[in-house]
Amino acid sequence: MEQSAGPATGWWTEAVIYQIYPRSFADSNGDGIGDLPGITARLDHLVELGVDAVWLSPFYPSPQADAGYDVADYRDVDPLFGTLADADKLITEARSRGLRVIVDLVPNHTSSAHRWFTAALAAGPGSPERDRYVFRDGTGADGDQPPNDWQSVFGGPAWTRVTEPDGRPGQWYLHLFDPGQPDLNWDNPDVRAEFLDVLRFWLDRGVDGFRVDVAHGLIKQADLADWQEPQEILSGREVDKPRPPMWDQDGVHEIYRDWRALLDSYPGERILVAEAWVEPAERLARYVRPDEMHQAFNFEYLLASWTAPAQYAVITRSLEATDTVGAPTTWVLSNHDVVRHASRLGLPVGTPRPHGIGIGDEQPDTALGLRRARAATLLMLALPGSAYLYQGEELGLPEHTTMPDEARQDPTWERSGHTLRGRDGCRVPIPWEADAPSYGFGPTDASWLPQPPLWAEFALDRQRGVPGSTYELYRTALRLRREHGLGRGTLAWLATGDEVLSFRNDGLTVLTNFGPAAVPAPAGELVATSAPLTDDGLVPTDVTVWVRSA
Ligand code: GLC
Ligand code: CA
Repeated sequence: MEQSAGPATGWWTEAVIYQIYPRSFADSNGDGIGDLPGITARLDHLVELGVDAVWLSPFYPSPQADAGYDVADYRDVDPLFGTLADADKLITEARSRGLRVIVDLVPNHTSSAHRWFTAALAAGPGSPERDRYVFRDGTGADGDQPPNDWQSVFGGPAWTRVTEPDGRPGQWYLHLFDPGQPDLNWDNPDVRAEFLDVLRFWLDRGVDGFRVDVAHGLIKQADLADWQEPQEILSGREVDKPRPPMWDQDGVHEIYRDWRALLDSYPGERILVAEAWVEPAERLARYVRPDEMHQAFNFEYLLASWTAPAQYAVITRSLEATDTVGAPTTWVLSNHDVVRHASRLGLPVGTPRPHGIGIGDEQPDTALGLRRARAATLLMLALPGSAYLYQGEELGLPEHTTMPDEARQDPTWERSGHTLRGRDGCRVPIPWEADAPSYGFGPTDASWLPQPPLWAEFALDRQRGVPGSTYELYRTALRLRREHGLGRGTLAWLATGDEVLSFRNDGLTVLTNFGPAAVPAPAGELVATSAPLTDDGLVPTDVTVWVRSA
């Protein structure tokens, strides 16, 4: 069976897109928080690595209740990160190096510090200002119970009661995430008009696209019906099961069709990428129909177990599902919301997705995790479609799994009553130089999350030019991927057994050994391997090889 990434064309169909988490990439002024000038100063790293584009997590003015995913002003830059002029400079400098720039758009909710929310509180019940959000009267005798039983993704109820302008306890507002992130009402025309205008604002500044936060959450089932199940951002449903009333409602698609029409009116192939935790793949494919978004993150791939049958199943299903709508598939292993794959894969195979790892939790096997992570990445980068990398994975960075709980900043830790560690472990500022203060993250020792001592051995300057390092493995893979056009190639399976997966794409044969015994390498010239072969030239357990053959 042959599978390609689909008939769509354009830079994005085969792009490798690198996620920058601005707080943790590079700090220019030594306050311990990464910033836009820091990113601009490090752009050459991304050119050397060989990626096509960057996606920047939010840098907008924000009280930082959820690390910037609580936006108070969609048209400016938080002083923590710099100025609008710094953003313009970053965009220009990136584009002059041939790197495209995608920014994050957070349309499901604003910050509670947004001027609209302040106005809604002041204007009182029934006002047009309140109608831009989801305000409801409470239930119970005094309205002191929330309007429904929904839980927030970070734990605790999804509703918070406000104090009315006259000082009395009043209505409740919906927040699927933190109380500092009130959900917008997407049935309100002001909301629709505002976001079209925000898109124009950044398109006019030259960005190449938008990563759309919680794209499956904007529309809620009209009756806000109770949902007696635990809250997960993942809809996690089979096609024929009822969907949660807050996720993946059909009404979201009309919004994206409007946005697509706007983007298409601009020159230069601007794109929309959905962050939609939607299963199964057929439901997710609806977000990337020809007149909607260009791409959607493939979280089913990220969540798949490290076994040959599970990987085979998710790869073929992903290609088939996007094929039905003519969109390219995407691949992703890590981001700022999940345990880094170098640690996730060091947990026993089949462990459910951890919500962070901390002191006292089962610790991953670091060496095994890195070995599998390198094999997984080499497998991923050979697949047709577009791939997303998360800053630091090119260094093989593990999760910080022993971070002191007092240092944690993700609201998940507090809101879950200290049951879910949250996402801080994958957000630690990254190491550039082994022997510099803050490992070269900034000019001082300051770092908004503590960096573990093992950062020294992972620092870029310890890996650059070192054969066999994770950094050089990524560079080699990205160069060959480009040379062979793997992203627009066609995948033809050669072996799909319980222990070995192998396929051809362009002139390369790719093989991953998941089994316990070493296996023969495909015939031809070995051009990349995620770990050394055995003395007899066999491919050991948890290793991927790329072989060039005629
Ligand atoms: C998305 C972001 C995550 C954020 C949430 C609420 O899932 O990736 O970091 O907490 O949306 O905005
Ligand atoms: Ca800074």
